[in-house]
Amino acid sequence: MTNSETVRHDATGQRDRMLATLDASNAGDACTLVGWVHRRRDLGGLLFLDLRDRSGILQVSVGPAWSSAEGLAAAQGLGAEDVVRVRGEIALRPEEARNPEMATGDIEFRAHDIELLNRAATPPIPVFRGPEDELPGEDLRLRYRNLDLRRRELQENLILRHRLILTARNYFDRIGFVEVETPILTKPTPEGARDYLVPSRVHPGEFYALPQSPQIYKQILMTAGFDRYVQIARCFRDEDLRADRQPEFTQIDLEASFVEPDDILAWIEGLMAEMAAVAGVEAHPPFARLTWAEAMERYGSDRPDLRWDLELHDWTAAFSDTDAEILQSIIGSGGRVRGLRLAGGARLSRRQIEELEGVARKAGAPGLLWAKGSAEGGSGPLARWMGPGHWDATGAGEGDLLLVAAGPDGMTSPALSAVRGAVIRALELPKVREHAWLWVLDFPLFEEADGRLYANHHPFVLPHPDDLDRLEFDPLSVRGLAYDLVYNGSELGSGSLRVHDPALQRTILSLLGLSAEETEQKFGFLLEALASGAPPHGGIALGMDRIVKDFLGAPSLRDVIAFPKTTAARATFEGAPVPVAEGDLADLGIGLREPTGALKGAEPRDPE
Ligand code: AMO
Repeated sequence: MTNSETVRHDATGQRDRMLATLDASNAGDACTLVGWVHRRRDLGGLLFLDLRDRSGILQVSVGPAWSSAEGLAAAQGLGAEDVVRVRGEIALRPEEARNPEMATGDIEFRAHDIELLNRAATPPIPVFRGPEDELPGEDLRLRYRNLDLRRRELQENLILRHRLILTARNYFDRIGFVEVETPILTKPTPEGARDYLVPSRVHPGEFYALPQSPQIYKQILMTAGFDRYVQIARCFRDEDLRADRQPEFTQIDLEASFVEPDDILAWIEGLMAEMAAVAGVEAHPPFARLTWAEAMERYGSDRPDLRWDLELHDWTAAFSDTDAEILQSIIGSGGRVRGLRLAGGARLSRRQIEELEGVARKAGAPGLLWAKGSAEGGSGPLARWMGPGHWDATGAGEGDLLLVAAGPDGMTSPALSAVRGAVIRALELPKVREHAWLWVLDFPLFEEADGRLYANHHPFVLPHPDDLDRLEFDPLSVRGLAYDLVYNGSELGSGSLRVHDPALQRTILSLLGLSAEETEQKFGFLLEALASGAPPHGGIALGMDRIVKDFLGAPSLRDVIAFPKTTAARATFEGAPVPVAEGDLADLGIGLREPTGALKGAEPRDPE
């Protein structure tokens, strides 16, 4: 896919062709072209303009032999980013002046006339021309986003995004899905993150919410008989931002009736293969599958990056005879001794190991135990607790490093997963594959925090049929028929089969602490729809922005969204959010006061 493929139908009333669609076969053609002055070089008698449009760059030469006196004068007065129209003729460049690096490097445009269509103010940030230019800081580039969007790389990112969305739409159309638009003004419905609220003018004191996802609407569409729904859906979440999160983002959202998880997985694998091919990424279905429990056991993460095959080990049994009181007490209270064995890891310096300890602490562990070497000569804090049996059990040999965390899984898993990522970077371990696709299946239905249950994905996930009998007396042990799509350690999508029995849905909502009254008030409309003859159904949503970002290997979602928010959730180009005049608020029946509780002083800090 190239930029010029999108500009084939390029003639308009003001121009004949786009610039980089021209080549040596056009030599001798007379035409009218338009563009921005990318660069200007004055060689005394001869003046060269690099003219730029979305397709690329063409060299325009202005000289007394072929340009009018007015054209010459106009060219003298041109500055960077001025918008011009040129009339003239395409000519082959002299052999020695050809530039094989440039799509239009064999030709130049000999301008007869030059017309200034619009003058550009001196750009507040330089328009990036190539690797030789230093990119201005991101704050400035977001503030002057229209100038930054003139950068070829960003244009190509957005064009790839367009291509990928088109591929998805065509794919789903081909397999019988219907795109249905669901409302943007919706009912506030907690789905685990914060709603953006929208006041109603005609119903003062009442609010809509922007959708966090079309989840409930798509389920209602299933009850309406649209058995294959898809939507390229905009979602809004007022949550703390990271490089892979924006407050406003796009999902490829789908839902289907009378399906098993395998149906959804196969559809998405087919989609990913087509989208990946467009982006030059490899995706060869069927993708690897791990249950959530396996993923947590082997990698400590529900979205492990399988480009590296480094796995965690459980050395609890080996250390159960240890003299170390701390380990005894952890094992005695049900904790485990888990860790990584790194071949050749002993070459890490004390300082590098301290950095890894910092990574573990940041991820919630009190520290990291480590040992270098083998039974013949070990060192490090863990080594003094290790006898030959322990060394044997870990399999460590000369030159190896053991990194160990001991405690409950809820602590060791995130800590060791973070350490795994950091040590892969520190040791520059070779990848075993460039493109690691993975399904993670059977997530727990609930998680526990502050002594109460929360839905792991959302409250509509269908419990695993084998676990249903434990739902009410051991809910934390119940798995959901849920699946996440992971690419190179990034969660690209998440879905599940859904509860279609209203009684079961009520039970789950009550386990989540909703009273019968709250259930009715918040979800009555869904329960009513489920009671109206709801088919068994399920679906998934893929993060469109993340797909483009990860296919490009871009560092941030901001590289693939035309007008992204900053990490402090601000739009700096247009300047939003802004305070609203008191009169306007009064019309809505709203008065301002100091935010209370958790929202007080809630300007998000920069989490990156
Ligand atoms: P979930 O909340 O997991 O599921 O979202 C699905 C996918 O959307 C992407 N995503 C985001 N992308 C950018 N910025 C964000 N703030 C953001 N939040 C999520 C991720 C994620 O995997 N209704 C369910 C889906 C379902 O069950 O069908 C849902 O929204 O790639």
